[in-house]
Amino acid sequence: MNWRGYHEATKHSVESLRRSRHFLDWANMPDPFRHYEGAPVVDLPAGPPSPDIPALEVLLGARGPATAADGAEFLSQLLFYSAAISASKRAPGGGYRYALRVNPSSGNLHPTEFHFLTRGLRGWTDGLYHYRPSSHMAEQRAAGALDPLPGAGAAPVVFVLSSIAWREAWKYRARAYRYCLLDTGHAWQSLALAARAIGCRACALGHFPDDEAARGLGLAADEWPMLLVALCDGPPRVDPAGGAEPVWHGGTPNRLSPEEIRYLPLEEVHAASKPLKGAAVPVADPPEEGAGALRLPAPAASASGFGEVVRRRRSALDYEGGPRGMTLPELSAILEAATQPLEADFAARFVQLYVYAHRVEGVAPGVYRHWPARAELELVRAGGQQVAAAGLSLGQDLAGNACLAFSMIGDVGRATAAHGDRGYRYVHFEAGAIGQRLYLAAEALGLRGTGIGAFFDDQVHRYLGLDESGPKQVVYHFAIGHPVPDPRLDG
Ligand SMILES: Cc1cc2nc3c(=O)[nH]c(=O)nc-3n(C[C@H](O)[C@H](O)[C@H](O)COP(=O)(O)O)c2cc1C
Repeated sequence: MNWRGYHEATKHSVESLRRSRHFLDWANMPDPFRHYEGAPVVDLPAGPPSPDIPALEVLLGARGPATAADGAEFLSQLLFYSAAISASKRAPGGGYRYALRVNPSSGNLHPTEFHFLTRGLRGWTDGLYHYRPSSHMAEQRAAGALDPLPGAGAAPVVFVLSSIAWREAWKYRARAYRYCLLDTGHAWQSLALAARAIGCRACALGHFPDDEAARGLGLAADEWPMLLVALCDGPPRVDPAGGAEPVWHGGTPNRLSPEEIRYLPLEEVHAASKPLKGAAVPVADPPEEGAGALRLPAPAASASGFGEVVRRRRSALDYEGGPRGMTLPELSAILEAATQPLEADFAARFVQLYVYAHRVEGVAPGVYRHWPARAELELVRAGGQQVAAAGLSLGQDLAGNACLAFSMIGDVGRATAAHGDRGYRYVHFEAGAIGQRLYLAAEALGLRGTGIGAFFDDQVHRYLGLDESGPKQVVYHFAIGHPVPDPRLDG
């Protein structure tokens, strides 16, 4: 099944929801934490210092100073501000608590695992590691000089973000592949922005041979490598020691559920998106053709420090619904932060933002298309959009009660023309990356965001005047506003 077949088969509609009701089997819920049992566990120093460069500056391209003295401090700081546990919540009606992390995840199911390869970090043994967010430690899966990732170059630290699709499929069934890709995009930017805040460059590589990488990394069969993120310039280095023979510890992956249920369309689209079409060639951005009606002003500023913003970031469960709104310079800052160029071998602007403006001072309610190079908003539909935004987002009130909501429209046709079915992944990585940037920009400005993976696909297309089976497809929704308090949240 190619991307088109998968995408059509996993569209939500009123009929599809009615046709196939799904009840969650709690006894079979996958463990959100993977462990490679038996691999030596290495401590990461507790209480790493908070990067205090303003988060908005990082989002707009600034780099913080490199402060870590050695590899352990560096990795601890990087992971504490990108992938660690940052809060917990009480389950409804009980004392049971579950963990929330710095990186968000659809359904809080966290399909993404963080593996990393290190070479020549000061005071840290070269090798292959897997991050354990449950205890902020690293499992050493191999020690020595390894080069299992063709094309990743000689960066001192290379992360491999893998997906365990079953974690998502337990809840979202075949549609779960979309969520895995979006979550990968979130994790990528969570990592890349934390790296930048502590003085590094981070470049993502989507164009690598999956099976070779999975074998070379000794990944468990249920983990699929999705994206590599190479960190350079900033990590504290010594000259590479020059290749100690690798020693494999491997470790035995823990079993996540009593029973894993397979969803063929999900497996088929993953297989279809494995082949690499030629070399990774950046695709030129399309010309911006819109006739902008509203010019965006200079963006609002915020001094909130990066470390504080990423650790307090949360998803709003719902929003106030009024009368408080937000300002146009705040919207301008959010849009500018969300649409900065991304450093990746597949990077291109495949995703365009449509804004459902509910309560933005100086902006008449309506749907607007964003033209980032021109810093303009073009009116697509005039009038109140609260009912439409909530309805299109599978009837979720939060999309109507927020100050604004977004549809992200991905040009999957252009991405797949350039990259084959693998382009389907890249469009979703970009949408997830934009989502992560929206979360952090909102939080920096004292607002809050929520990613929305559930929407009625073709209703969105019809509402926005797009062809239902055309090259441009809705891939993600998002909302931003003033959150209602969440009484179940701790820390
Ligand atoms: C790709 C993606 C899709 C999501 N879809 C929804 C959604 O449809 N509705 C919703 O209320 N929250 C949604 N969320 C928010 C998650 O439920 C939230 O990230 C998760 O519960 C963890 O909470 P946290 O973001 O506060 O860490 C989504 C998040 C992501 C990353």
